[in-house]
Amino acid sequence: MYMSTSKTAIITGGGGGLGRATALKLAESGVNISIIDVSEEQGNETVRLIEEKGAKGIFIKADVTNAEEVKQYVDKTVSTFGSVDMFFNNAGISGPGKKFLDNSIEQIDLVLDINLRGALYGLYYVLPEMIKNGGGSIVNTSSTAGLVGQDSVVSYSATKHGIVGVTKSLAAEYANQGIQINAVAPGSTETPMVKQYREMNPDVFKAVSATIPQRRLGQPEEVAELVSFLLMSEAKYINGAVVPIDGGFTAI
Ligand SMILES: NC(=O)c1ccc[n+]([C@@H]2O[C@H](COP(=O)([O-])OP(=O)(O)OC[C@H]3O[C@@H](n4cnc5c(N)ncnc54)[C@H](O)[C@@H]3O)[C@@H](O)[C@H]2O)c1
Repeated sequence: MYMSTSKTAIITGGGGGLGRATALKLAESGVNISIIDVSEEQGNETVRLIEEKGAKGIFIKADVTNAEEVKQYVDKTVSTFGSVDMFFNNAGISGPGKKFLDNSIEQIDLVLDINLRGALYGLYYVLPEMIKNGGGSIVNTSSTAGLVGQDSVVSYSATKHGIVGVTKSLAAEYANQGIQINAVAPGSTETPMVKQYREMNPDVFKAVSATIPQRRLGQPEEVAELVSFLLMSEAKYINGAVVPIDGGFTAI
C-alpha cells in the first residue's frame, strides 16, 4: 500500500476522453487515481499522464459489466491506496446510432449492460467503502440524451435517463450517510466516442450540432472541470443534482 494522505478516486472509462481529462484534472490536486478500462493500452497511457503530473495512478483492467471484476477493481483500489473517496462512474458506449428498429437485440443489450448495469455494479461495490469511511463523493455520467429525447439513440437515451433516476434515488437513500452523488449531462463533446459516432452518422450529427446555442462542441477539459468541482469542492450541499454541460442545448 502507498503511504499517502491524499484522497483517492476511481474513474471508470479512464482510458477515454472524459475519464482521462478528469483524471488529469484531479492529478493536479495530487489525488491518487485508479483508472478502470477494458483497454489496457489506453488505461496505461492515462496512468503515464497522471504520473507525469506528479500524482499516483494505477491501471486496473476491468469490464464494468462483470460484477466480479467490478468488485476486484474496488478491492484493489482500497488495498493499494487505503480508501475510495471519489468515484467518477463514467464508462459508456454510444451504441450504433441507428433507428431503434435497425438495432439488433445484441446491440440493445450491450448499451444497456455497459451504460446502466455497469454503472449500478460500480455503485453497489463503491458505496459500502465510502459509508465505512464516513462518506464520499460520486459523479455519474449521464448525457443530454438523459434529459431530452434524441433521434437514433433510443437505447443510449434509456440508459442515460436511467442514470438520472439512479443518481436522484441514491441521493435520497444515502445523502444522510455522507454520500454526495450527482450526475453530469454533457452534450456532444470532442472525445474519441463522438469522433467515431460522427464518422458513422454524419447527417444526424450535423443536425444535432446546428441546434447548439454556442454552435460548437464541448471540450473534454470543460467536462473535467465540472466533474472535479462536483467531486472536490466544499459545496457539499449539492446532492442528487444533474448538471447539464451542453452549450445551452437543453436550455431551448
Ligand atoms: N463525448 C460525448 O459527447 C458524451 C456526451 C454525453 C455523455 N457521454 C458519456 O461520457 C462517458 C465517457 O464517454 P467518452 O466520450 O469519454 O467516450 P470514450 O469512448 O472516449 O471513452 C469511454 C471509455 O470507456 C471504456 N469502456 C467501454 N466499455 C467499457 C467496459 N465495458 N468496461 C470498462 N470500460 C469500458 C472505453 O474503452 C473507453 O476508454 C460515456 O458514459 C458517454 O456515454 C459522452
